[in-house]
Amino acid sequence: MSENKPVFVTQPALPPLEEFIVYLKQIWGSKILSNNGPFHKQFEKELANYLGVKYVSVFANGTLALVTALNVLRITGEVITTPYSFVATTHSLWWNNIKPVFVDIDPDTMNLEPEKIEAAITPQTTAIMPVHVYGNPCKVHEIQNIADTYGLKVIYDAAHAFGVNINGNSILNYGDLSVLSFHATKTFNTIEGGAIICHDEKTKKRIDFLKNFGFADEVTVIAPGINAKMNELQAAYGLVQLNYIDGYIKKRKIVSEYYRTRLAEVKGLRILKDMDGIEYSYAYFPVFIDAVEFNRTRDELYEELKKHHIHCRRYFYPLISNFPTYRGLASADPSNLPVATRISEQVLCLPIYPDLKENIIDRICNLIIQKTKF
Ligand SMILES: Cc1ncc(COP(=O)(O)O)c(C=O)c1O
Repeated sequence: MSENKPVFVTQPALPPLEEFIVYLKQIWGSKILSNNGPFHKQFEKELANYLGVKYVSVFANGTLALVTALNVLRITGEVITTPYSFVATTHSLWWNNIKPVFVDIDPDTMNLEPEKIEAAITPQTTAIMPVHVYGNPCKVHEIQNIADTYGLKVIYDAAHAFGVNINGNSILNYGDLSVLSFHATKTFNTIEGGAIICHDEKTKKRIDFLKNFGFADEVTVIAPGINAKMNELQAAYGLVQLNYIDGYIKKRKIVSEYYRTRLAEVKGLRILKDMDGIEYSYAYFPVFIDAVEFNRTRDELYEELKKHHIHCRRYFYPLISNFPTYRGLASADPSNLPVATRISEQVLCLPIYPDLKENIIDRICNLIIQKTKF
């Protein structure tokens, strides 16, 4: 590849076009495009089977799935959440008229710190919305203990955690609900898309009503639901993707391991440690730059790589708590979030996707290692 061809933080994995065309021909024949059609039904079943979960409801995107998940459980008042995530996490609370309460993260996993969750509970708290950032599992048992003690619901934003297992059990089996995103940038994509994972049939039924305007049948609307249905083209594309996802994850693992080998000894550059018993899906490759030890700031490195057409992303900078909608909240004060504030200034997500070639990884790593030369 030429030195000038841009490399982005991710590149979507597309399945073979011929296989998708077979499904498209069926759709053209049936003329069923949406509204819980045959591919939608089949995709939900096959996804549940693949993920090792009981019930899956697929959505048009992950954001609508988050908004609906809060609505299904009738969450109100205050919800404890993380500032270190993509804005959609907190926006889903805003759309439900819920007050976000930001809590600081653990510097080893970048996920919510359970003790800090407990300290932030008030009489108005009804739920916890943690995020498995980069697909790194939250401390699910400790979080569940807190939820059980205080009578709170737990809704995981699992947008990064497709295919992540804890001792062979899907991470999506924890909490009351988990939400996935199948956006083009994710490990598993349906172009746009998402899902709610739940553990019982009654909840699945209510989710399905709410994602279809609240219709329970032709004449019954049970609540002000939304239109968040996945269409048949996306579902068919998802069915084809399921045949390839294991291969995508394997290739991502190879990329991740190669980065680890190449960058292991770089002073001032920290890589997250893999936790015992976790099967990862390698959604992101974040590194954390200590400006003093590394001799350059994260932003200097980011700009230098950009000059060489390597487009990394600062996930997650700025913190959600710094955006105008949320910065007035007491919990958004940086003094309440010292770890998240520091980490957001250190993080740089390096390119990772199944077809990222070793020579490009070498180019990226060489630029990082030769930092003293720029
Ligand atoms: C943590 C997190 N939550 C929610 C979303 C929103 O998902 P979507 O883009 O499918 O709406 C994303 C990504 O886009 C995300 O990274």
